[in-house]
Amino acid sequence: MENFTFWTPTKYVFGRGVEENTGELSAAMLGGKVLLVYGGRSAEASGLLGRVRHSLDSHAVEYHELGGIQPNPTDDRVYEGIDIVREKGISGILAVGGGSVIDTAKAIAAGALYDGDFWDFYCGKAAIAKALPVGVVLTIPAAGSEGSGNSVITKLDGMIKISIRTEEVLRPRFALMNPELTFTLPPFQTACGIADMMAHIFERYFSTTPGTDLTDRVAEGVLRSIIELAPVVMDDPCNYDARANIMWAGTLAHNGICGTGRKEDWASHAMEHEISAVYGVAHGAGLAVVMPAWMTFMAKNRPERGAQMARRVFGVENPVDTEAAIEGVMKLRKFFKSINLPTTFDGLGIEAPDIDLLVSRLHANKGATIGGYYPLTAAETALIYQLAI
Ligand code: NZQ
Ligand code: ZN
Repeated sequence: MENFTFWTPTKYVFGRGVEENTGELSAAMLGGKVLLVYGGRSAEASGLLGRVRHSLDSHAVEYHELGGIQPNPTDDRVYEGIDIVREKGISGILAVGGGSVIDTAKAIAAGALYDGDFWDFYCGKAAIAKALPVGVVLTIPAAGSEGSGNSVITKLDGMIKISIRTEEVLRPRFALMNPELTFTLPPFQTACGIADMMAHIFERYFSTTPGTDLTDRVAEGVLRSIIELAPVVMDDPCNYDARANIMWAGTLAHNGICGTGRKEDWASHAMEHEISAVYGVAHGAGLAVVMPAWMTFMAKNRPERGAQMARRVFGVENPVDTEAAIEGVMKLRKFFKSINLPTTFDGLGIEAPDIDLLVSRLHANKGATIGGYYPLTAAETALIYQLAI
């Protein structure tokens, strides 16, 4: 096991009705003047935004609004938010929504305190030293941004989608998580969230670091719970306990607990981000396509971790590592199909993916090789994209 620092300062408040604490926590942790950031329609339609505004009013928290954040969020809305923050003297950002909203809130929070273009953080020109505090009311378990130090933004000029991670600065101060808020999720978004949280665990599980048995077992336990409960939430979207477990799994998948003490991979995420940047697909659906293709490549080239996962998570009994790993991939694909996720490009609506374009963008953004478990060259990422056709 490697040395590590595990620092997860987010105050998670979980359960029915917890959004009623928004005003109190915003007053205490975000200061007296917040920018309320939210998505397209769902939070307004469900009445959640009304309750949040009421809670802010009741605690005398002044707020300004930035709504209409779209999935795969773009830099234009970040610049807009930064302008509002500076003009109004905003003291903290409140995100009501999922990963797209939270990531926009984080980018605004850092960009507003930076004397330059916020994109410098994403293109690697500058490191984030400080940010306004961010609070979250989560409406979809998926990206795990409510507990992560990550933010993923797409620059409209060139559609460059970049993920950054800061362990110390961007983690939200609080996350209010009411599983009932997820009852309204369309089945496709529920399934995309499940694929994304599983991928966040796989990216940490496929590691070359030996001796992380406890971290392995935590990761396997979360994966097994997700696999058991996924059909329940798909069949019965208002099943509180199933929704609650899936919601908490999404946070544990990405707040760092499943990666403690070891190197991580993240090649599949980098490969997917190119697909969602170029073709505008949902991130989780893109991962359901890329992740099994990546695992198929690994089964042939570095099968040990895939074989262990197949045996412990999917109950595969084959003693030969390569064969066990392949059986694990087949079971993973079957699972994704069972919750109506695509597992090939054409299932994403992309009949003739431009693999040369995806590969050249990928390596231009991420370097000559990508991934910590098995560093992939451009020829190998091209092969993996091919495997997803
Ligand atoms: O905009 P509205 O109307 O709210 O609709 C949203 C959106 O269309 C809908 N939705 C959310 N909550 C709902 C709901 N619909 C009904 N009822 C509810 N309760 O769901 C759709 C997707 O929302 P989005 O915020 O895009 O989902 P997600 O949480 O999957 O976020 C995806 C983004 O996060 C990035 C992805 O790349 C993508 O840009 N990621 C961020 C990470 C991070 N910051 O740590 C890590 C991830 O790996 C990921 O890359
Ligand atoms: Zn993800």
